[in-house]
Amino acid sequence: MKRLLVTGGAGFIGSNFIKYWLEHHPLDRVVNLDALTYAGNLENLTSIDANPNYRFVRGDICDAGFVVQVLESEHIDTIVNFAAESHVDRSILGPAAFVETNIRGTFVLLEAARNYWDKGADESRFLHVSTDEVYGSLNQGAAPFTEQTAFAPNSPYSASKAASDHLVRAYFHTYGLPVVTTNCSNNYGPYQFPEKLIPLVVINALEDKPLPVYGDGQNIRDWLYVEDHCRGIDAVIQSGRVGETYNIGGCNEIRNIDIVHQVCALIDQMRPSRRPKAELITFVPDRPGHDLRYAIDASKIRRELGWEPRYTFEAGLADTVRWYLDHEPWWSRVRDGLYHQYMELQYRKS
Ligand code: NAD
Ligand code: DAU
Repeated sequence: MKRLLVTGGAGFIGSNFIKYWLEHHPLDRVVNLDALTYAGNLENLTSIDANPNYRFVRGDICDAGFVVQVLESEHIDTIVNFAAESHVDRSILGPAAFVETNIRGTFVLLEAARNYWDKGADESRFLHVSTDEVYGSLNQGAAPFTEQTAFAPNSPYSASKAASDHLVRAYFHTYGLPVVTTNCSNNYGPYQFPEKLIPLVVINALEDKPLPVYGDGQNIRDWLYVEDHCRGIDAVIQSGRVGETYNIGGCNEIRNIDIVHQVCALIDQMRPSRRPKAELITFVPDRPGHDLRYAIDASKIRRELGWEPRYTFEAGLADTVRWYLDHEPWWSRVRDGLYHQYMELQYRKS
C-alpha cells in the first residue's frame, strides 16, 4: 500500500492522475496538496470527494513548514510533483510566479523529502513531472528528443522547469534522494484549462468567437491523451529506475493549423450550425520565441517499462471535443473575471 502526496492535483493532469490512481490502486492513500491558483479547480475531483482514501489540503509547495507537516502527519512514501505554473504565454507576460513555484517550490519539496525520508522511510520515491519543452525547439527533419538531448529551454516556463529538473537530478547525485523525472509532450483531454490550444479553440468555436492561431500555424507539437500520460507516470512510479529520466510522448506530431481544422470538423459534425467553424480561424501575432517543433522519442519507457499510448489522436480528440460539449457548466464556471482579464491582455493585438 502506498501513501502518495500529489502536488497540483486540482489542475488538469493532476486531477486526471488522482482519479486514475484511485481507480487502479484503490487501497492506496492519496493526499492532494494544491494552492488552488486560477488553474486549480476542486470541481475536477467531485467524483472522489467521498472516497475515504482521498484527502485534499490547500497549501503552497513553497511553504516548507506546511509541506513537512503534511509529509509527517500522512506518513507519505511517494511524492508526485505536478504543481507548477504551466502556461507558456503567461510566463511571457509575468515570469516571476514561474520562478517561485516551479523552481523554489520544487526545491522546498526536495528539501522536505530529504529531511523526512532521512528519518527512515523505506520504498520512498519522488516523481517529478516535467516537460519536453526543456529540450528546446527542433527543426523539421531533426531527430526527436531523447533523454540524452541537451537542455535548451527558450521560454521562462521551460527555463523554470529545466531548473527544477536540474535540482531533482542534483538531489539524487548529492543526497541519494530516490527521484525519477518524466518529460512529457503536450497533453490534451478532459478538464484542461481553456487557455491551452485545444480547449480554447473548442470553446471559442462553440461561441462563434475567433480561433487564434499564432504566426503561420506551422508549429508542431507531439500530442498525448492525458490518460496515457497518467499510465506512463504509474509505470515509472512502480518500476522506473531511481535517478533516471523517462520521456513520455505520443508519436503524434501535428501542426497547430491542422489541429484547429480537426477540432472545427468535429464540432461541425457533433453540433452542426450554418457556418463551418473553420471560417472563424484567425491568424494572430506569433508567440515571442515560439518553439517550432517538439517531438519525443519514447523508446526508453517502451523498452524498459512496456508503456505505450493506447489512444489514437483521432479517438482522443473526438472524446475531448465531446467532453467539452457535454460539460459547458464546468468551463463556464472556470472562466471568471480573472480569465477574461487574461484573455484581453493576451489577445489584445489580434
Ligand atoms: P495546470 O496549470 O492545469 O495545473 C497546475 C496545478 O498546480 C493547479 O491545480 C494549481 O493550483 C497548482 N499550483 C500552482 N502553483 C502551486 C503552488 N505554489 N503550490 C501548490 N499548488 C500549486 O497544469 P497541468 O497542465 O496539469 O500540468 C501539470 C504538470 O505537468 C506541470 O508541472 C507541467 O509542467 C507538467 N506538464 C504539463 C504538460 C501539458 O501538456 N499540460 C505536458 C508535460 C508536462
Ligand atoms: O510540450 C509540453 C507543454 O505543452 C507543457 O509543458 C505545457 O505546460 C503546456 O502548456 C504545453 O505547452 P504549449 O505551449 O505547447 O501548449 P499551448 O496549448 O499553449 O499551445 C500549443 C501550440 O498552439 C503552441 O505552438 C502555441 C499554439 N497556440 C496556442 C494558443 C493558446 C496558438 O496558435 N494559439 C493559441 O491561442
